[in-house]
Amino acid sequence: MVAILGYSREQIVAAVQAMYTAVAERPDSPFHFPVGGDTSHWLGYPASQTDSVPPALLDAFAGVGYPFRAGAIRRGETVLDIGAGAGVDSLIACHLVGAEGRVIALDLTAAMTRKLKGTAAKQGFANLDVIQASAERLPLSDASVDSITSNGALNLIPDKRRAIAEMFRVLRPGGRVQLADVVIHRPVSVDCHEDPRLWVECVVGATVKEDLLALFAEAGFEDIQVVGSHDYFALSPSEQTREIAASFGAHTLELGMRRAAQAPSPLSRWCQRLDPRRAWRRLTRRGLLGVAALGLALASCYGTLALAALLPLLGVSLAVNEGTWATTIAGFVLLTLGVLVAGFRRHRAIGPPLLAASGAAMVLYALFIDYHALVELAGFVLLAAAALWDLHQRRRQEARLLGLEAPADPS
Ligand SMILES: C[S@@+](CC[C@H](N)C(=O)[O-])C[C@H]1O[C@@H](n2cnc3c(N)ncnc32)[C@H](O)[C@@H]1O
Repeated sequence: MVAILGYSREQIVAAVQAMYTAVAERPDSPFHFPVGGDTSHWLGYPASQTDSVPPALLDAFAGVGYPFRAGAIRRGETVLDIGAGAGVDSLIACHLVGAEGRVIALDLTAAMTRKLKGTAAKQGFANLDVIQASAERLPLSDASVDSITSNGALNLIPDKRRAIAEMFRVLRPGGRVQLADVVIHRPVSVDCHEDPRLWVECVVGATVKEDLLALFAEAGFEDIQVVGSHDYFALSPSEQTREIAASFGAHTLELGMRRAAQAPSPLSRWCQRLDPRRAWRRLTRRGLLGVAALGLALASCYGTLALAALLPLLGVSLAVNEGTWATTIAGFVLLTLGVLVAGFRRHRAIGPPLLAASGAAMVLYALFIDYHALVELAGFVLLAAAALWDLHQRRRQEARLLGLEAPADPS
């Protein structure tokens, strides 16, 4: 497997800037994601809104959805467009807020802000300010904007929690957000997650949908609503990108929400983070369910034995129903086996399920036919080896899909 750990945040940011410099300067080049006015119309932008956008800017449109569906912007407001790019959404916002309002178009990439500044000055957009800065450190004071719009930027930002906290800080209490972004159904493994090349392809940096919504809720946003979604990557001219997107369930969401009057307390934030449904989602979508089931099998087997030995030393006796005990262990062993058999569908390697079946057979034999501690232990060792092998195969399959490893013989 190609060694890809150790990329720094700076390398990811540099890769993002290089990609969007190319979009700003050569929007007609082939990109793995769709760019330009046709894309905006496919996503739902009415021609009445894009007609007034200068063609040079519309050609470099790289949004992933139509955030205006959430209708967050009102006349006279101060609006911040985060990751404004060539500024199509900023210019639409300029019309919505009118002459008495103001729009701040913020982007990380200098070529984008240069392009927008130059064109907007020629066209006389007096209520537009263009700033080059990072969404992770907004150069704006607290509660200084009424609404925020963002389209396709959050998935490119390394520290999303910080960017969302910054959104909360600069919005006034009760201020609204409209946002379009890429989400995924299952996360990319840590090994592949930090590769700058993959990051700029919009899938690897994206967040699982429920985790993204939870990040906003944790930061103090309320009334979070999904107002639209698109199979955005179906538009990609790159077959590999379409395949990667389909495999990770990547698609785009349009969201609307409101900033609460107060930031949530640290305690309520921690309670949200400890939500067992989040832990369950992480385990299943990261392919760790097999390891977790095996952990429970080991805990119910050897944990109970340890308790039975230790509790009498404290004067407490533990009555164990042997039938229930064995059935509980067997249930977790069979769950481990089931997860590893299901893993075959993903990586097509027969070794892990075969090894797991042998291990499970040994444990069940020891539990229900003829008990030998060593047979039981050997069964658990085989199950553990199978679970680790399955994880390794899942990661290799992911790396192959992402183009990080040459296709291998499926045997
Ligand atoms: C997918 S493009 C979308 C541009 C624009 N919103 C549009 O709809 O055409 C994402 C933009 O986010 C910008 N971006 C990426 N990371 C950023 C960050 N950390 N802070 C601010 N902007 C960022 C990129 O430079 C790029 O212009």
